Formats: sequence, C-alpha cells, structure tokens
Amino acid sequence: MALLKDLFIGLSQNQILNSAAKKYGLKLGAQNVVAGTNVEETIQSIKELNAHGISCTVDNLGEFVFEKVEATKAKEQILDVVEAIHTHEVDAHISLKPSQLGLDIDYDFCLENLREIVAKASSYDIFINFDMEDYDRLQASFDLLETLSEEYSNIGTVIQAYFFRAEEDIQKYKNYRLRIVKGAYKESEEYAYQNKKDIDKNYIELIEWHLLNGKFTSIATHDHVVINHVKEFVKVNNISNDKFEFQMLYGFRTDMQLSLAKEGYNFCTYVPFGDDWYGYFMRRLAERPQNLNLVVKQVFNK
Ligand code: FDA
Repeated sequence: MALLKDLFIGLSQNQILNSAAKKYGLKLGAQNVVAGTNVEETIQSIKELNAHGISCTVDNLGEFVFEKVEATKAKEQILDVVEAIHTHEVDAHISLKPSQLGLDIDYDFCLENLREIVAKASSYDIFINFDMEDYDRLQASFDLLETLSEEYSNIGTVIQAYFFRAEEDIQKYKNYRLRIVKGAYKESEEYAYQNKKDIDKNYIELIEWHLLNGKFTSIATHDHVVINHVKEFVKVNNISNDKFEFQMLYGFRTDMQLSLAKEGYNFCTYVPFGDDWYGYFMRRLAERPQNLNLVVKQVFNK
C-alpha cells in the first residue's frame, strides 16, 4: 500500500504527464471525479447537487504554474466562476490553491491575484477557501490569508492533521472558517506524522477542539468512522448544525453524501473542474488505491 501511495504521489508530480493529460480531455476515469472541463458544465453539476440540498465548493484545477501568464489565466478563470456563481444564484463558493495563482513565482504577484478574487467574491458575499498544499507552501499560504483578512472577512483555510504544528495553527486561526483534513501530500517525518493511527488520532482531536472553540468547522473526510464520531460528539456537546458541515469530494461516496444531507446535516461537495485534472486524480489514487476501480472500469467499459 505504501509503495502504491508513493508511486501515485510521484506520478502526480510528473510535469510531462501533467501537460500531456491536458491535451486529451478527461480520461482514465477522471470524468467520474471531475465535474467538467468548463464553467457551464460545472454550474450544471452544482445545480444538480443543490437540488439535493448540497452546497458546493468549486476548484478550478491547476498545477505547476511557473509563468505569470498562466497564473493570470487561472485568476481570470476563477473570476469567471465567481461571476457564474452569482449570476446563476447557485449555493457555492470557491476553493483555490495559492500556487495556481503564482505563489511559486512571486509572493506579491500572488497576493495581488488573490486580492482581486477575494474582493470580487466579497462584493457578492461569496466565501473563498485557500486550500493547503505541501509543507513548503504552508507558511506562505497562512501569511497570504492573514494579510488579506485585514481587508476582507470572506476567507478561510485548511488545517492538515498530519502536521505536528496543526494544533498550534488551529488555535491561532480559530476565528476563521476552517476545513480540517488528514492531509494529502507526502511529507517528511521531520514535521509530519507518517502513521495512519497517529494522523487519525490528531484528526479527531483537532475536529473536536475546533467544534468546541472555533467559528465554523468543515469536516472534510470520506471516513465513516470519523463522521459517526462527529455525529455523536455534536449530539453530546449540544453543538448545533449551523456550526459545522461535512465535506467530501465530487464522485466519492455519493450515497453517503446524499444521506448526510437528507439527515439534515450541512453538506458541501468539493467540485473540481478543468482540463488540468491529472495531479488531482493521481493524488486521489494515492490516498486510496481502491480508487483504481475507477480506472479499471473505464478501461473495460470502452
Ligand atoms: P482515508 O483515506 O483516511 O480513509 C479512511 C477510511 O474511510 C478508509 O479506510 C475506508 O474505510 C473509508 N473510505 C475512504 N474513502 C472511501 C471511498 N471512496 N469509498 C468507501 N470508503 C472509503 N488535503 C490537503 O492536503 N489539502 C486540502 O486542501 C484538502 N482539501 C480537501 C477537501 C475535501 C472536501 C476533502 C474530502 C479532502 C481534502 N483533502 C485535502 C484531502 C485529505 O487530506 C485526505 O487526503 C483525503 O480526504 C483522504 O482521507 P479521508 O479522511 O477521506 O479518509
């Protein structure tokens, strides 16, 4: 299992395969977990989820952005999504990755791109989540968040439970709307738990702490053990449904997504779209090699 995880994480970082994948549209089963390649298809998917009482967070997929022109293009695409969410009056907000907006090129350039997006979203009362990437970008992403929160309140971020520093971060950022996840990247044992048991334990502790002390908690997991634990925890501690939501990725455990929404919990589906699907898809295979079923089914269904 660990070898497969490393293999898929390695593949997710392969820039040649990434560029090749962009040219061929959604392939290998990625179409099951990526909502579409353009804004129109994505809005349609959001409307379908909204009809089931599910809100959405929309991610315009994009990786390996090392040129300003690409980051500017990504910014324009995200601004288009913000506009489309407003025009179609759908229940959705944005998830974005600072690296897609130029963090690896120049910090201030990235800050300006983010500022433009956050300002427009703020004028429409749309929330923007800064997704968290790998450790090398962690502190800079928090810095961007802090700087922009001096001007805007429609922003929040992610706490990754595999980092030793997660406990300190969650306390520092408790007044933000926070998504809590286990963590998706391969990180060094210098600063991250490696063992699933340790990560799961820290994950539960962080969720409980933020539910009791934080502003609003998004519990982003497909793990039914964690979900059942949270259901019990909120009941025992009298935490009302408007203080938290569950989140899952588009196309995963769809039955559970629908049933949680039906049970009356706030539920938000993470809806990725775009032609830059390759790295996202490989990370999903790394997390759960059983997701290879998606690939196998696709290959044999031709
Ligand atoms: P995990 O993979 O640990 O699985 C636990 C158990 O759940 C499995 O053993 C199995 O029993 C069950 N299970 C899981 N998936 C299943 C499936 N598809 N079908 C049936 N059973 C299943 N990461 C990051 O670093 N930065 C970020 O910004 C984000 N953002 C984000 C948003 C959202 C909405 C989600 C859901 C996740 C992220 N992540 C993320 C990814 C996250 O860090 C993590 O890598 C994945 O969610 C995988 O961990 P899980 O908690 O889902 O369960």
